[in-house]
Amino acid sequence: MLPVQLIRKKRDGGALDEDELRWFIRSVTDGTIPDYQVAAMLMAIFFKGLDAQELATWADAMTRSGDVIDLSRIKRAKVDKHSTGGVGDKISIPLAPAVAACGVAVPMVSGRGLGHTGGTLDKLESIPGFRVDLPVEKFAELVDTLGVCLIGQTARIAPADKRLYALRDVTATVESLPLIASSIMSKKLAEGIDALVIDCKVGRGAFMKTIDRARELCALMRTIGMRAGKRVTCVLTDMEAPIGRTIGNALEIRESIEVLRGGGPTDTRELTHVLGAEMLVLGGAAKDEAEGRARIEKVLGDGSALEVFRKLVEAQGGDPRVCDSPGSVLPKPKHREELSLRTGRVTSIDSEMLGIAALLLGAGRRTKEDAIDPAAGLVIDAYLGELIEPGAAPQIMLHHSLTPEDGRVREARAMIEAAFVIESADKAPSVRSSRILEVIR
Ligand code: URA
Repeated sequence: MLPVQLIRKKRDGGALDEDELRWFIRSVTDGTIPDYQVAAMLMAIFFKGLDAQELATWADAMTRSGDVIDLSRIKRAKVDKHSTGGVGDKISIPLAPAVAACGVAVPMVSGRGLGHTGGTLDKLESIPGFRVDLPVEKFAELVDTLGVCLIGQTARIAPADKRLYALRDVTATVESLPLIASSIMSKKLAEGIDALVIDCKVGRGAFMKTIDRARELCALMRTIGMRAGKRVTCVLTDMEAPIGRTIGNALEIRESIEVLRGGGPTDTRELTHVLGAEMLVLGGAAKDEAEGRARIEKVLGDGSALEVFRKLVEAQGGDPRVCDSPGSVLPKPKHREELSLRTGRVTSIDSEMLGIAALLLGAGRRTKEDAIDPAAGLVIDAYLGELIEPGAAPQIMLHHSLTPEDGRVREARAMIEAAFVIESADKAPSVRSSRILEVIR
């Protein structure tokens, strides 16, 4: 086959057949097609899309471009959750042990943070000793014995995506729904799961800015899942403000442990309950969402989810005392600085700006090579709709280990102030009481 013929066919709106698509992805993986032809194909797909058949084949070829983890010896249902990413999104950390405590296995392969959203792996690595680079055999063993394991993506999982994503990033082709859907699903389907819950974030702080675009993306991911014989439930959730009260790795572990103790901020608990309930329904451990929710609330309230987390931390090399006294185990920043916002009603919060402020303090990376300060981040005590009265205690605490003269601290403070829109105190608060926008089963 000649790449140029396939590119021309797609450019002119034709549909590529199974052999053509599989050959193309094979050649992407083994490097026999040069970058410029891969990039041209990506641009052709960006403009002409992929039909349902093409999409399923393209995604399947990407899944099979590397190893597909075989978890068939584990008899329990195996269900994972994927989030399209949001600032302060630590939900996987309380969620995975809670679902495992209810009898559904969670094989979770997560990513690192890049840019303004943090990665689950970076958060877990803030627990001293915690290892996310376990071999696949150990991963399978822990999913079997503990019901849960959280590791990083290996070079052998969907390697075609690695090359495609790197090229999309520099050719303005990231924002193509079929390319996003196949990228996400190929990595998830390689984990050996039976079913998947997708938390598709919607709003200013998210990849999907509008609910219509989020619905379209979810429909494509469900098509790929169904054609691979996997059930996929999508939960569309509001990302107009950061999740919980903390942004930053160790800080988010501390907050996750609060949720595992039955507490934590209302939104963080709600997301854990709802996503967990959907995972239990897919895994056959609850007959409906209400029963699933009740089961998740029970294991968070009675300490059994925390016990699973303790075993998970220990099995993955971390210090399990983090469960009892996170403050004495987790890394601490050199400085804690207060910041007071203006008085008035908080009417909007730009979570992306807060994510960037946390990154500037050391909580995130600008490039893949950047080191992270696990103790850096923000604790936020100002919510959408809240009234900040004169004389109120400072609303934001900056955690960092930079020198006070470092320009990044000044820049972070300015970004935080700009991230909050504060209007007159008599402006009526208009705030959603729930983060859940829609569930597509
Ligand atoms: N996340 C992914 O894994 N891939 C995309 O293309 C976009 C977001």
